[in-house]
Amino acid sequence: MGETNIFLIGFMGAGKSTVARALHALYGKDRIEMDQKIEEQEGKTISRIFQEDGEAYFRRKETEFLLALPTDRGLVVSCGGGVPMREENVKAMRSRGKIVWLHASPETVFERVRHSHTRPLLEGNMNAGYIQKLMEERRPKYEAAADIIAVTDGKTAAEIGKEIMTRLNAPEG
Ligand code: S3P
Repeated sequence: MGETNIFLIGFMGAGKSTVARALHALYGKDRIEMDQKIEEQEGKTISRIFQEDGEAYFRRKETEFLLALPTDRGLVVSCGGGVPMREENVKAMRSRGKIVWLHASPETVFERVRHSHTRPLLEGNMNAGYIQKLMEERRPKYEAAADIIAVTDGKTAAEIGKEIMTRLNAPEG
């Protein structure tokens, strides 16, 4: 059996892409950015996919993408924030590796995403109150999906990456 895949889940701006880069830099893990792969496949940005094809179409693409992934390749997959909302996605991840929830407070997320315009769900809703509300709605799904929870507030990506690997390699991990 090969090395387990790691799926990074969590809210927009929780640090999934940054931590995936740290896991690549520290441990040489191959890194997959799900949003970026879907953008490449579709030949347009996530914002345009939402506008032109609709959110339901995008969600189907996420599921198809996960189902096409191999098991046990030691990949780090940085997932879109909405991925764990679908049970079939959670099953697909669980059967292909370990699921790590990167948790950040609404304040941290707001500071990280406030100037960005690449996330259709936050366009017109770019405020801490909305982020907090959506995060609360999603929390039970993130929690239920996670094998490991890593709190990211105030930590560097390298610290979080090391913490994840230590915990995944621990006997109970
Ligand atoms: C989404 C998160 C985004 C992207 C899309 C929808 C979500 O990814 O997949 O805009 O539903 O939370 P990031 O979490 O990488 O920003």
